[in-house]
Amino acid sequence: MTEPALPHASITLDPEFAIGEADPRLFGSFVEHLGRCVYTGLYEPDHPDADEDGLRGDVLALVRELGVTMVRYPGGNFVSGYRWEDGVGPERPRRLDPAWRSIETNEFGLNEFMRFTSKSGVEPMMALNLGTRGPSEAAEMLEYCNHPGGTALSDLRRAHGIDKPHGIHLWCLGNELDGPWQMGHKTAEEYGRVAAEAARLMRMIDPDVRLVACGSSNSSMPTFASWEATVLEHTYEHVDYVSCHAYYEEIAGDVDSFLASAQDMEHFIDSVVATCDHVRAKLRAVKRIQLSFDEWNVWYRRQRRVADEPEWEIAPHLLEDNYTVTDAVVVGSLLITLLRHCDRVSAACLAQLVNVIAPIRTERGGPAWKQTTFHPFADAARYGKGRVLRVEPRSTRHETAEYGEVDQLHCVAVQDAAPDADTTTILAVNRSVEQPLNLHAEVRALGDVRVLGHHVIADADRHARNSAEHPDRVQPRQVTGAAVSDGQLTAQLPPLSWNVLRLGGD
Ligand code: AHR
Repeated sequence: MTEPALPHASITLDPEFAIGEADPRLFGSFVEHLGRCVYTGLYEPDHPDADEDGLRGDVLALVRELGVTMVRYPGGNFVSGYRWEDGVGPERPRRLDPAWRSIETNEFGLNEFMRFTSKSGVEPMMALNLGTRGPSEAAEMLEYCNHPGGTALSDLRRAHGIDKPHGIHLWCLGNELDGPWQMGHKTAEEYGRVAAEAARLMRMIDPDVRLVACGSSNSSMPTFASWEATVLEHTYEHVDYVSCHAYYEEIAGDVDSFLASAQDMEHFIDSVVATCDHVRAKLRAVKRIQLSFDEWNVWYRRQRRVADEPEWEIAPHLLEDNYTVTDAVVVGSLLITLLRHCDRVSAACLAQLVNVIAPIRTERGGPAWKQTTFHPFADAARYGKGRVLRVEPRSTRHETAEYGEVDQLHCVAVQDAAPDADTTTILAVNRSVEQPLNLHAEVRALGDVRVLGHHVIADADRHARNSAEHPDRVQPRQVTGAAVSDGQLTAQLPPLSWNVLRLGGD
């Protein structure tokens, strides 16, 4: 009797076959005025670690360590009822935020956010209210932010102590306006017209802006794809990106489908790319629209606070998901998918950054710590900025309820950007809960390489998490055994694991 073969996968790495260069903006995140993302998250003036701007030093350090390159702000659903003027200058009115049934103090606004971006070294991605407001307010906000001076709004900025224009390059034309939950929800026709008008006006003020039109809120929306087609027919020549949003969760214990969530993201990207290119052909346009996957994550939505709760609070505890090892592996697989589509996805935001479905958690007046999901993001941000190689795995497959048969291996390889192009990283996920996976990679085309390191996120308890008391319960650990011999890499990926394999010369 022969032993059943152990699960295995094989790949070939060859720098001659590249998908493209990963845009650093793929490693963006998102700060919304929602729950404790801003207040007692990144901003807490009376925290012992707060700096002169009220920003928490411990959180800033973690944001830098996470490697985030770009941050979208200030929403999300919040932005669709937001008055940006409330958050600048000395008068900060308190307002109701109907999106999250909260009270917004406006203590933190546009200029405080820009201080945060410069201190954390990230690029701002500013979202506009095209829900309850329109093109004229969008143009006014742009004038305040980017015009040098000599006009009422640019001089107002200067009077607020910001002499130089902020020079904000990336702007989202609203948020999820296809969703009936959104303040100012619109049909695709209505939104397409408003977005095109806002875009035209904005480009007249600042021709250098890069603009994101709202795509679908998720791939199950009844208007999915037809929304993008109609919106792009109105906006094609004025915008650069169309947005995608997607959140995943483990439903009713179906962990195999959850671990294969990247299949949905893959289908989402392929469909939106096809729709963009259909409109391109129809309009005989030359440029291609890129995708901005500006909200993605694991999110246990069933815990979402219901809208009929009575109290309107300031910075309530909302959406504070505590992530497990399994969630971290899924986040890793979604990052792999974004990288595998780097030819068309050139911006993306892990939603969100602090406390609210976030890789960083804080306690008011207390510590900040890394969630499990911090680690795959930090790895991908560190090793994913380079030339993404085309990898077509041949892998043991297994059945999932949601997506049919899927490969046990999900992976991508990235060659470091020059001058370190002789180092290549394999980012890989083993999607089996039970079985290790033997990986064989043909790496001869990379030259004379050896294994520089192999670390994983994996745990005997797939539900293990970090907490204020045990902030490092789950963290990357080195594994041994991976080796290159005669141009062949062999490595074993533990069950349900996120893996980082670094290959290079001496
Ligand atoms: O990130 C949480 C929420 O998810 C955002 O406010 C909204 O845009 C999306 O539905």
